[in-house]
Amino acid sequence: MNIFKYVLAMTVAIAMSCGNTVQAQTKNDSNMKTVVVYFTHSGNTELAAKQVAEVTGARMIRLLPEQPYSSEDVDWVNEQSRCTQEHLNQSLRPAIKPIDIDFAKVDTVFVGFPIWWHEEPAVIRTFLDNYSEQLKGKVIFPFCTSYESPMSEADATLKKGYPALKIRKGIRLPAKSEEIKKWIFQ
Ligand SMILES: Cc1cc2nc3c(=O)[nH]c(=O)nc-3n(C[C@H](O)[C@H](O)[C@H](O)COP(=O)(O)O)c2cc1C
Repeated sequence: MNIFKYVLAMTVAIAMSCGNTVQAQTKNDSNMKTVVVYFTHSGNTELAAKQVAEVTGARMIRLLPEQPYSSEDVDWVNEQSRCTQEHLNQSLRPAIKPIDIDFAKVDTVFVGFPIWWHEEPAVIRTFLDNYSEQLKGKVIFPFCTSYESPMSEADATLKKGYPALKIRKGIRLPAKSEEIKKWIFQ
């Protein structure tokens, strides 16, 4: 191939690959009406939610408990602490502040949380219960942050607790944006 043909071929290849990228981006933006709903106590899950929002272009909405968790509340060593009690009594649903989502305009909901006691915190169950009607038919992608616990444990508790919801396999974050894309678009 002479130099002219080589330059022409490279130009076409670059133009085609740019076109694909733009097309994929546009497709995601227009087809995926997404929102990232998350609960965080010490900030890690908010950073993870930002990662998901960057990849999807979704709006972030933080879940806030009506009664914030104090440091005593999250003392998992203490059997009487609020978090331990909410783990031991799985029917507890700490009240959360209302959130501003028009579910009619959303088809995909990312739900982020820190792992507490190897599972989703009770605040997440409050969200899923309070909005169960609106969430029906939506695709739900859970994600977590943790010291070491894998997402698979929360995947199992969510699946067991919410069989009527379309909950996809979750991911533990942080992760590279390529991994996040693979998780979502696989
Ligand atoms: C009450 C409580 C229970 C926790 N339980 C676990 C656990 O079972 N496994 C684990 O790996 N990390 C556990 N962690 C650590 C958190 O999942 C981790 O620090 C997380 O990234 C915190 O997220 P946040 O900063 O968004 O609140 C626990 C933390 C708290 C406060």
